[in-house]
Amino acid sequence: VPLEETSLPLFFGWFLLPSIQDKVRCTSLDFLKTLDTLEAFKKHLPDFTVEAEKEVDLEQYFQANALHCTTKFCDYGKAEGAKEYADKPFHQLSRWLVSYNPAAVKELYGSVFELSLSALFVTPRTVGARVSLSEDQLTLWPADAEKEVVSVVPAATTLPAGSRAHITLGCAEGVEQLQTGIDLLEILALQQAGQEGELVEEMELGSLSYYGKGRWLLSLREPISAQACFSSLYG
Ligand code: A2P
Repeated sequence: VPLEETSLPLFFGWFLLPSIQDKVRCTSLDFLKTLDTLEAFKKHLPDFTVEAEKEVDLEQYFQANALHCTTKFCDYGKAEGAKEYADKPFHQLSRWLVSYNPAAVKELYGSVFELSLSALFVTPRTVGARVSLSEDQLTLWPADAEKEVVSVVPAATTLPAGSRAHITLGCAEGVEQLQTGIDLLEILALQQAGQEGELVEEMELGSLSYYGKGRWLLSLREPISAQACFSSLYG
């Protein structure tokens, strides 16, 4: 069935290929295990227990979900801007391509991309990986993704497009996945406001900084390159 004849999915996104999923899971588990043993982490532990009684249970989450980077949450067409996203022309500005200007989503559906995972972050609510999108990949990024959460992260409107791009690795009990992108935007908003975070430790994987309120960011020395298929989930 052609895409245009089907209803819109729960969400569009890049789905990591199986072998790289395993690698990302192992790397983040290693990171969490190491983080757990650091004195600095123990010192800030009260930040965690106040907001979340339970620990972030990565392993439980991992069993159920395919690791992915959501581009547009469509909610089967009910989400604002879902149809516009699916129909968004490939070349926004090109006059030469007016006669052949297919929707980016349809054109790139099923293509494999190389995502760059540049950081891992942990908060009392979520664990995630930051995805740094290339110019090409931004073609598939909805224009309003950052602005959508302005009521929770006011500075989100001033952050560059693509700032919210992430892979949810785990959520504390009772926390919605949607929270992961919000947690990432909060950290990026602090960085943009000139708060670089407190550099806590140079780890093998990269430098670990603390941003207060239980927010930790590990900037990877070597970004993880992850092959991912642009597709959708109907759920
Ligand atoms: P995320 O992209 O942070 O992982 P659910 O299982 O809750 O229906 O969500 C399916 C996917 O869509 C998840 O990847 C989730 O979060 C994302 N998602 C859910 N709700 C929203 C929303 N309102 N805006 C953006 N992404 C959402």
